[in-house]
Amino acid sequence: MPASQGAVGDVLALARAWRVPAASPLSPGSLAALDSLIAANWCKTVDLCGNATYGKVMFGSLMLPRNSTLRRAFVQEHHIASNATSWVPDSLRCWRLLVPAVVHAIEELRLSPARRRHQSYYHFGIFQGASVYYYREQFPSAKFLMFDSFIGLPAEQPGELQRATWLKGTFLVREGDIAERLVRDLGGPSLNRVERGFFNESLTAALAASMPGPAALVDVDSDIYISAFQALDWLFQFELVQPGTLVLYDDWMDYTCAPLLSPSALDNIDMRDAMDGMNVGRMSRGLRAALGITNNWQPRFPKIFDGGEPKAHFEIAKKYGVDFRCVAGSCAPAGQGGGRCPSQYNGFGALFIIAGIGGTPNHGFAMSETQLAAWRASDVSCRTVTRTRFTVADDDRKVNRRVQRLNAMVEKGRGPG
Ligand SMILES: C[S@@+](CC[C@H](N)C(=O)[O-])C[C@H]1O[C@@H](n2cnc3c(N)ncnc32)[C@H](O)[C@@H]1O
Repeated sequence: MPASQGAVGDVLALARAWRVPAASPLSPGSLAALDSLIAANWCKTVDLCGNATYGKVMFGSLMLPRNSTLRRAFVQEHHIASNATSWVPDSLRCWRLLVPAVVHAIEELRLSPARRRHQSYYHFGIFQGASVYYYREQFPSAKFLMFDSFIGLPAEQPGELQRATWLKGTFLVREGDIAERLVRDLGGPSLNRVERGFFNESLTAALAASMPGPAALVDVDSDIYISAFQALDWLFQFELVQPGTLVLYDDWMDYTCAPLLSPSALDNIDMRDAMDGMNVGRMSRGLRAALGITNNWQPRFPKIFDGGEPKAHFEIAKKYGVDFRCVAGSCAPAGQGGGRCPSQYNGFGALFIIAGIGGTPNHGFAMSETQLAAWRASDVSCRTVTRTRFTVADDDRKVNRRVQRLNAMVEKGRGPG
């Protein structure tokens, strides 16, 4: 149970919130200026995913399906080399194309916590490095602090929603010294530091004291609730974030787009098939049938703050009195957009700026339930997730047992990894 829960946790949270130094909150005027400047920058840049750069970087990242029929279909459909090793649906990832527009607006308005050439960017969840390679192209002089176990996800905290295809060990990197490759390729040790280990062990007070400075940018791509909570808790506890820090979530919409399935659905499925469906963006007919998904199926969805990264974000806002403001991505309704330009409130990830710390908490998610339901029905990435991923509520002993059994399979090397 995170320390945010329970009376003792509340008292500690309050004490910490008062301890956070008084970097001044961002003013309403600067937040309004930021919104307009991001819109203008975004308008000058690209249409969402019209630019192939990020897609190219993704090759070599995730696995191609092992199911040979799906693999053949996928290779043909996407015109990729049949010897390519991996793929992930671009629409899920291309929200990061928004990041330069936002970062440059923050810098232009001098809202960033550290106004120096080598700003500190903290990345939680590296896997083989696709996102950090992309960021390095965009931000050649930033200092990158990279955190990952490199042996995949830990198990989700018991009692939390479980994404059935994000098991302990998923995203295991089989490569030898990944830290060495990343440091070499991304500009050398003066600009890069890689911390290997599970966050609950690696993110210590001593590590915090050795960090170069407050984060200009925090990229949370560690998928599950407990990991996002531990990463954010460390940053706030050790004052590595300040007003002006940009906080990004890759899996912001993942849980709320993935249907909640009945626990018994897990009895009938082959997890390899499920992983393939997730990677390829299309479930096999057999898997759909095993999961009980029919053409007129009406999925039931978790609420935005029920699980995953959004739940961690919500709890951290409360624990440290954070005023988060949505600046781009899927944390506010897209609205009408600015004429010929696409709205910056689009894409699968969510981008927040910290406007203040130690005051009244504000999670900053600006979509109503109705707007979220409309978004689920219309957004191409969300629809992909709805079709290919699923979540089970871990409040049922049977589900716990099944997830544990699947985790055990993974540990023995028989499952996804
Ligand atoms: C989806 S992958 C990251 C993808 C990467 N950003 C990219 O663009 O390819 C998630 C990563 O988070 C790491 N991770 C998740 N929870 C973690 C934890 N508690 N401690 C260490 N690493 C963790 C996993 O090992 C995995 O490599």
